[in-house]
Amino acid sequence: MKKSVLITGGAGFIGSHVVRLFVKKYPGYQIVNLDNLSYAGNLANLTDIENLSNYHFEKGDIADGSFVKNIFEKYQIRDVIHLAAESHVDRSITNPLAFIQTNVMGTANLLTVAKEHWKNPSDHLFYQISTDEVYGSLGAEGHFSETDAYDPRSPYSASKASADHFVRAYGHTFKLPVVISNCSNNYGPFQFPEKLIPLVINNILNNKTLPIYGDGSNVRDWLWVGDHANAIDNIFHKGQKGATYNIGGNCELSNLDLVSQICDLMDKKLGRQPGASKKLIRFVTDRPGHDQRYAIDASKITAELNWKPEMNIQEGLSRTIDWYLNEKEWLEQVSSGAYLKYYNQQYRHEV
Ligand code: NAD
Ligand code: TYD
Repeated sequence: MKKSVLITGGAGFIGSHVVRLFVKKYPGYQIVNLDNLSYAGNLANLTDIENLSNYHFEKGDIADGSFVKNIFEKYQIRDVIHLAAESHVDRSITNPLAFIQTNVMGTANLLTVAKEHWKNPSDHLFYQISTDEVYGSLGAEGHFSETDAYDPRSPYSASKASADHFVRAYGHTFKLPVVISNCSNNYGPFQFPEKLIPLVINNILNNKTLPIYGDGSNVRDWLWVGDHANAIDNIFHKGQKGATYNIGGNCELSNLDLVSQICDLMDKKLGRQPGASKKLIRFVTDRPGHDQRYAIDASKITAELNWKPEMNIQEGLSRTIDWYLNEKEWLEQVSSGAYLKYYNQQYRHEV
């Protein structure tokens, strides 16, 4: 029997990179991608591997008990890498209950099915993919480390924090072998254009304004999605059961600096006048409860698993922009959804 790995949320941004990596690198594994194809899930993200014999797709909801149970039985799932989630902070402000349903109830459901299906838990692994946002917000100094107390501040981060707590609780109470990683902001190909980087690229392409929340001083630590996928591979295969690993890009940028860099790169690539894209920048009302700064201390994963980010931000941004310029059809298809149009009219108003 081949090793069957269930990857949830594999049709999304990070999940599609993880599925591709595992399907290609581990032909001896059966990779089962479980995704409900929400607005953020797209099978077009996986066309290059969809016909490989060790790849399987199952459409369904992680919170649906009997559906998930059937998948565990059908494929004799050995391990889970759990990425499926509602993932955007702004949407969690307009619709928090959807985040509780998928991120909390969905995770608890997966854990419960795994606990009931796995007769000898030590043969298995439940790997929870989480975010650095569970640690709260930093001031000018300091970095999040694995031993920091959780302090989530948005409905999104509260739902992820709650899910992480359930993962640890199942590990402690039922001896389910679990591991958690908490990662900083990812960027790269296939990211849905509601998140800052692809939103800015898309808006520049369409000569639309670039909304910067507040004064643009909020800081995020950016990580190339391929580096995250490699970290997940390392943790899945070599991480200590029961452990937590922080993953970061060691690349802090204020939103205004980041958007300015994208503007300059886009001007060059599109042959526009220097400064043309920056003229599209608009400062808009701040996100309610906007976390000021995230920064990750990733020394544990570097010391234990010899992982560090490989991509530098200039090269990563350039590759990301090139990808979106080449995939205009993808971009148009995903941005034409009614949900995105509705959502774009939410609380942002120019100030
Ligand atoms: P995404 O929104 O691009 O993808 C989420 C995927 O989950 C989609 O394919 C969607 O269809 C699927 N999904 C949503 N609800 C589902 C449900 N109820 N049942 C089955 N599938 C469902 O998100 P992403 O940015 O790729 O993030 C993936 C994971 O990584 C999330 O758990 C997120 O919290 C975490 N994470 C993301 C970042 C980031 O910067 N994007 C950073 C750290 C951690
Ligand atoms: P985002 O990509 O939504 O990720 P997260 O909120 O999980 O960090 O946002 C990144 C940063 O960019 C965050 O500080 C909010 C800010 N932002 C804007 O200023 N304008 C925008 O239109 C968006 C989507 C985000």
